[in-house]
Amino acid sequence: MTDKLLLAGVIGDPIAHSRSPLLHGHWLWRYGIDGHYVPLHVTRDTLHDTLRLLPELGFKGINVTIPHKETVLQIADSVTDRAALIGAANTLTFTANGKLQADNTDGEGFIQNIKQYTPGWSAAEGPALVLGAGGAARAVVSTLLSEGCPHVIVVNRTRARAEALQDNFGARVQVADWTRIPDALEEVALLVNTTSLGMTGKQPLHIDLDRLSPQTVVNDIVYAPLQTDLLQEAAARGCHTVDGLGMLLHQAAPGFERWFGVKPEVDDELRTVVLEG
Ligand code: ATR
Repeated sequence: MTDKLLLAGVIGDPIAHSRSPLLHGHWLWRYGIDGHYVPLHVTRDTLHDTLRLLPELGFKGINVTIPHKETVLQIADSVTDRAALIGAANTLTFTANGKLQADNTDGEGFIQNIKQYTPGWSAAEGPALVLGAGGAARAVVSTLLSEGCPHVIVVNRTRARAEALQDNFGARVQVADWTRIPDALEEVALLVNTTSLGMTGKQPLHIDLDRLSPQTVVNDIVYAPLQTDLLQEAAARGCHTVDGLGMLLHQAAPGFERWFGVKPEVDDELRTVVLEG
């Protein structure tokens, strides 16, 4: 009987690369839950109909990945404030009456990751420098501001995108050119790379870290490779570094809890499962 099954999954195009089935599958096994989490290849053409059909098939919710994270906001019956602010959703929940709620947990994943690996850290400690101005940057910036970060300097190849972020989030966002990175590094307590630079198969991230203080916490949201050049160079300068895998793991936890009823733990065992999967 499909109405007895606990079902959830992830939709995207392409979808085969997604690590979400691996990590949700591990949690289902670990907590002894009789449920399933499946990858679903859903194209733009079939997105709308699929989202209407899934609750009828017994799905409690669904994660969303490229290229649907923005489009689902138009289809959802309700959108959380943080998803609206970021302009994208990654976690959809079907309510008891079949309505579709869209949320974005990327920012929560980002901040939980830093907190887990940097005990005592607070965003209020000082300004942050964020490289990039795409969807991930929006989640990072919005969360840093709501966590009390005094101001966030955003640097992006396409300056207009950084300015759009400033328009959205206000005066606590400052836009700087790529060439200003060395100056900005002197004043920040946190450096975050949200660009795809440094990822396996992409171009390297070239920035001059000479003026990076050893007090600055450095986080890369790229997790393949786990120890990016940025993290290695920052660690060599004495900085505390946080890799990007934890963001992927922590952003998944709120959906799992909503759909399967257990607050899952993000621990080393889960990291190993996802890394070796
Ligand atoms: P995501 O949702 O993961 O943030 P995205 O919205 O495509 O993905 O954003 C990718 C980010 O990486 C952007 O900040 C992008 O810069 P642009 O806005 O100028 O495109 C940045 N990025 C990607 N490739 C880059 C490159 N070769 N050099 C500099 N920045 C790059």
